[in-house]
Amino acid sequence: RWTVDKYVDGADSYPHISQAADLLKENEVVAFPTETVYGLGGNALNDEAVAKIFAAKGRPSDNPLIIHIADMNQLEEFVEEIPEKAEQLMEKLWPGPLTLIFKKKEGILSHMATPELSTVAVRMPDHPVALALIKEAGLPIAAPSANRSGKPSPTTAAHVWDDLNGRIAGIVDGGPTGVGVESTVVDCTEETPVILRPGGVTKEQLEAIIGDVRMDPGLQEAGQAPKSPGMKYRHYAPDAPLFLVDGPKEFIQKLVDEKRAEGQSVAVLSTEETKDFYQADYVVACGKRLNLETVASSLYDALRQFNHMEVDVIYGEMFPNEGVGHAIMNRLMKAAGHRVITSE
Ligand code: TXA
Ligand code: MG
Repeated sequence: RWTVDKYVDGADSYPHISQAADLLKENEVVAFPTETVYGLGGNALNDEAVAKIFAAKGRPSDNPLIIHIADMNQLEEFVEEIPEKAEQLMEKLWPGPLTLIFKKKEGILSHMATPELSTVAVRMPDHPVALALIKEAGLPIAAPSANRSGKPSPTTAAHVWDDLNGRIAGIVDGGPTGVGVESTVVDCTEETPVILRPGGVTKEQLEAIIGDVRMDPGLQEAGQAPKSPGMKYRHYAPDAPLFLVDGPKEFIQKLVDEKRAEGQSVAVLSTEETKDFYQADYVVACGKRLNLETVASSLYDALRQFNHMEVDVIYGEMFPNEGVGHAIMNRLMKAAGHRVITSE
């Protein structure tokens, strides 16, 4: 039941989009590329389809899904009202890595897609395959990231295969995704819009369009419940424990040396600029420090690589909390279970 093929020259020449769209119409679930990460799509109007998404991922049933659309007209079918600031953001940033929270119209979407909530998260992905697939299915498509719950989100079709092979009806392979971290989730239903999840669109970009934007305090402070249900779960963690290190590379090397002296196998999550400095059992470079977009784009693949290595402990470099660095640090802190070692 697998639909695996390479997308090469643009959506029009892609042969399997209509096959995948047929599966969606039959309430099967199919993975597809977006500009952020691969999504696991299903018909958002149908309980059976949405149940298959949760089952395939092993996702807690209280964690709501993002509804993906390809056309602005789809929005008013299931959204109660569109706040002015949301309107301005959509105009400038859709299609793109921005998810907006709206009051939902009751009784249209599967209740399982937005469990216990009066709101719904919506986005229009900026990827020709995703847009063509949603258009051809002619449905709002519920799509979480296409990973097993708890794993890093997939940025290639191979990642999806590793996690979901045998559990879903197909994968549309569009090559590696670009942005690499998920969309920014923004709630515009309050006076000052709130970022519930940092992502591909930066706070600075949002503020240039609509003025002041807040970060959900639950994102930073331990013990505060985040407003985006998904942010409370352990996520992105490699199998071996990851420690983030707030300090110079010499300090990281010292930590590596100590563990290796104890006979442990040690890996370092580094960057292109620093990778040749380290002497460890494994060194994985994740993009260029001077270009945080490249770090975002390769972060999840780097985290997944550690699971193919014989490694007891991983030390990771940290990144500045600016621009897409917010999203990178948010994901890394979750992957590390908030363990940070600080040099004195
Ligand atoms: O880039 C992305 O957003 C990817 C691609 C596939 O589009 N999707 C994605 O979906 O990351 P998922 O399910 O892995 O993450 C959705 C996040 C979760 O943190 C969820 O709790 C939050 O959005 N969310 C969904 N509906 C919400 C709502 N009504 N209110 C608050 N947060 C919501
Ligand atoms: Mg996810």
